[in-house]
Amino acid sequence: CGIVGYIGQDDTKEVLLNGLEKLEYRGYDSAGIATLNDTGVQVVKVKGRIAKLRESIDSSLRATMGIGHTRWATHGVPSEENAHPHQSVSGRFTLVHNGVIENYQELKENYLGNVRFVSETDTEVIVQLIEKLFAETNNTAAAFRKAMRLLKGSYAIGMIDHENKDTLYVAKNKSPLLVGLGNGFNVVASDAMATLKATDQYVEIHDQEVVLVHREYIEIHDLDGNSIMREPYTAQIDANDIEKGTYPHFMLKEIDEQPFVMRKIIREYQTENNELKLDQNIRQAMNSCDRIYIIAAGTSYHAGLVGKEFIEKLANVPVEVHIASEFSYNMPLLSEKPLFIFISQSGETADSRAVLVKIKEMGHPALTITNVPGSTLSREADYTLNLYAGPEIAVASTKAYTAQIAVLAILAVDTAKTKGLPLDFDPMQELAIVANAMEVLTDQKEAIEDLARKYLHTARNAFFIGRSVDYHVCLEAALKLKEISYIQAEGFAGGELKHGTIALIEEGTPVIALATQENVNYSIRGNVQEVVARGANDMVISMKGLERDTDAFVIPHVHELLTPLASVVPLQLLSYYAALHRDCDVDKPRNLAKSVTVE
Ligand code: G6P
Repeated sequence: CGIVGYIGQDDTKEVLLNGLEKLEYRGYDSAGIATLNDTGVQVVKVKGRIAKLRESIDSSLRATMGIGHTRWATHGVPSEENAHPHQSVSGRFTLVHNGVIENYQELKENYLGNVRFVSETDTEVIVQLIEKLFAETNNTAAAFRKAMRLLKGSYAIGMIDHENKDTLYVAKNKSPLLVGLGNGFNVVASDAMATLKATDQYVEIHDQEVVLVHREYIEIHDLDGNSIMREPYTAQIDANDIEKGTYPHFMLKEIDEQPFVMRKIIREYQTENNELKLDQNIRQAMNSCDRIYIIAAGTSYHAGLVGKEFIEKLANVPVEVHIASEFSYNMPLLSEKPLFIFISQSGETADSRAVLVKIKEMGHPALTITNVPGSTLSREADYTLNLYAGPEIAVASTKAYTAQIAVLAILAVDTAKTKGLPLDFDPMQELAIVANAMEVLTDQKEAIEDLARKYLHTARNAFFIGRSVDYHVCLEAALKLKEISYIQAEGFAGGELKHGTIALIEEGTPVIALATQENVNYSIRGNVQEVVARGANDMVISMKGLERDTDAFVIPHVHELLTPLASVVPLQLLSYYAALHRDCDVDKPRNLAKSVTVE
């Protein structure tokens, strides 16, 4: 979910709607705003997208303050009732919330026994609780702080008190939240991207802080009411990066940006003398650990699988890759000197953060590799590496995945160099070759669109098979296809298919095989024959030098270790066109959110 707030002159509605549009990547099953003016508070909520919310708001609405929310359902189905903002019984307090309140049942029973609830959300409990505490103190700020002390879980909250037209009440714990400073106005947002049009000056809000946001100034307090001073920083996002430009979809734009991202990474991680540029503390951490634990979710997890290959093969350090949500509650036996690497595009994924909190308590060092340097995972880890991919807006991740792999390759080579290990691999030169190959690939959209039409237009399901590192890419390709085209897809190890899953192959089932690795080229082609013999519609994507006449698509030659960076590009495009042909919402697939800030 995402929240936004504004207090200033009279353009509230526009700031809120623009902000919510930029936050839609965080969830988009329902949305709402509340504004306050001399006639009182107006709440508008819809089930559906921000575009629908925009249509539902009276264009003559004028107000000087308001809050808004776009939702990714956790407690309660997507519906108008469950959409935010939520109001207290008397109607005095109106509130939006991102996060999950773990003790909401308990709070309901202990404090709110006689309150009649309108929604099924944990959020409504917060606003009713504030009203209840207000009745005891008659002081909104004090009641707000007291309520925050009682909440367990994660929250970013924005609240309006209808009797006070000069203050927005804001609080944060574990969920992201920033306050933006303007001239005669101030804004609140889950992400600076939302309010970049209004200001580039932001103040970080820390966990368990509340902020009273007024038009001319803000007041930050801890939960005991003590004042906190903090300087603003300038958000480093280029407003053009968050527009689609001439592209029909962000996903296509982001796929096309990959060669530039590779070149940017090369520049950022190199000194003037062509040496690798990395923080000495990270070098030290990589060198002194006896095992690396990579923790991630979704696409970032798939990048981690590729990263393991580099770190083990080049730097000779054992690596385990874990799904964050599994690791938190079922921790494996750890080595004596572990180093944790968190890979996360957004730097906000709650599943990963849960692991970070636990391993920090245990005293282990952590490095976060993220596209958002100021994000929660980056702030809370000991070290950060930036992906330099620029904002990724499409829910399905593309350029962040390839950036993660490139940065992991650089990290692995750097570690190998510091350790004095023999290397016949110049990462920057090889990444430059990859960037050129990516350009060749993104220029072949028509050919890939034809393949998508031929293989996937009416497909019920699809299999991606590969061996060795190609297998990891197959997992990502299958996820991409599932996410945006809703075709049921599986990534499989070529040799494992025959041990069960081959039972699913029928006449015409699409099987997409990757063949970029010389040592398994022969065996993967054997696996292709096994499925063809059972009626599969095979599509082989191979690499120059390893190709056969019957291959459907051949990618340019790149270094054997870096093939995922090239082979994933036609697979991303294949998913894109499959989704497009099937009339799916490419950038905002159903049920998903880009940044999942709940466990
Ligand atoms: C969500 C997104 C995925 C993403 C995953 C991890 O589920 O829909 O595309 O891969 O989160 O996100 P992160 O920001 O941690 O890389």
